[in-house]
Amino acid sequence: MSILDYATVSLDDEKKALVIIDQTLLPNETKILHLTEQKDIWQAIYELKVRGAPAIGDAAAIGIYLAACEIFKSKKDFDSFYADFVKAKDYLDSARPTAVNLSWALKRMDKVVQDNKTLAVDKIVELLKKEAQAIVDEDIWICRNIGEYGVTLIKDGDGLLTHCNAGQLATAKYGTATAPMYIAHEKGMKIKVFSDETRPLLQGARLTAYELHSAGIDVTSICDSAAPTVMRNGWVQAVFVGCDRVAANGDFANKIGTSAVALAAKRFGIPFYVCAPTSTIDLGTKSGSEIVIEERDGKEVSHMWYEKPMIADGVKIYNPAFDVTDHDLVTGFVTEYGIVKAPFEQGLAEVVKKADSKDK
Ligand code: MRU
Repeated sequence: MSILDYATVSLDDEKKALVIIDQTLLPNETKILHLTEQKDIWQAIYELKVRGAPAIGDAAAIGIYLAACEIFKSKKDFDSFYADFVKAKDYLDSARPTAVNLSWALKRMDKVVQDNKTLAVDKIVELLKKEAQAIVDEDIWICRNIGEYGVTLIKDGDGLLTHCNAGQLATAKYGTATAPMYIAHEKGMKIKVFSDETRPLLQGARLTAYELHSAGIDVTSICDSAAPTVMRNGWVQAVFVGCDRVAANGDFANKIGTSAVALAAKRFGIPFYVCAPTSTIDLGTKSGSEIVIEERDGKEVSHMWYEKPMIADGVKIYNPAFDVTDHDLVTGFVTEYGIVKAPFEQGLAEVVKKADSKDK
């Protein structure tokens, strides 16, 4: 069984569990986790057992449905149910700050409760299950569409570069930045993908290279610092990356190291595409300077993956998990409603409007 045959995130409604692959163990071990407790779901998101912007949105939607099931056991009237629901929602929302999909999914679940407050609470819980499933199913549809638009930017024989994992493991299926690659491969196009290892948590090396290789795609793992070299060699015709939050002006946050890739791509005249589900576009954030960047434990840099710490005790470590790339380095945003080119402000607002009108 290939890693691509597993669902990244799913609901086991009988066991009232969120089912995920423990991504911290990949590619060496495929361990499926059934999480029933809210603190374990929070921890799984915080520790990146489930990660990637759309996938944590999916996990949070299922997680808050499970919380609602638990709350309903003791709180049968709307007001006391809703008070605990809001606490559970805020708790899950606090797991990671940068990817907007987490709060986006929780807001969507909250809206279901608010819009149906006149119904009996058990009916509201049923609707929450439907909404969580809809969020996961839409994620698949969105990624497939991003892939269909993205593949129009690829030519047979192209070399592509990607950073971090915006792959199937970061979504319900196909991935965002990898979706055009999977579709190009399905169409029989020959592509070569360079996958940045992505220090410090190695999502590129451990996850992207693994899933593309499992799909039979020609993938080469490179150190992050080798990206300008493969570009200089003429081996890269386009860059595809994912994103965690896109501001209204087109500045966006993605895994640390993305902005260095964008700067190098600009230097070598290589188009730089950001694959962005509309759920990741946050029009309430005006520009990149407003995006909260998660800072993580320095031990991820000094200790993780090494038998012995590789930074001397006492040395300060700065470990931002994401960076902001300025919009002028972006060639286009590939969304489920088409490719948005500059001026981004207008184009991004238009695709979000399309997504909102579809929701109604
Ligand atoms: O810290 P992670 O592994 O959750 O970071 C993931 C990324 O930065 C991805 O590129 C992004 O979430 C897009 S996933 C489709």
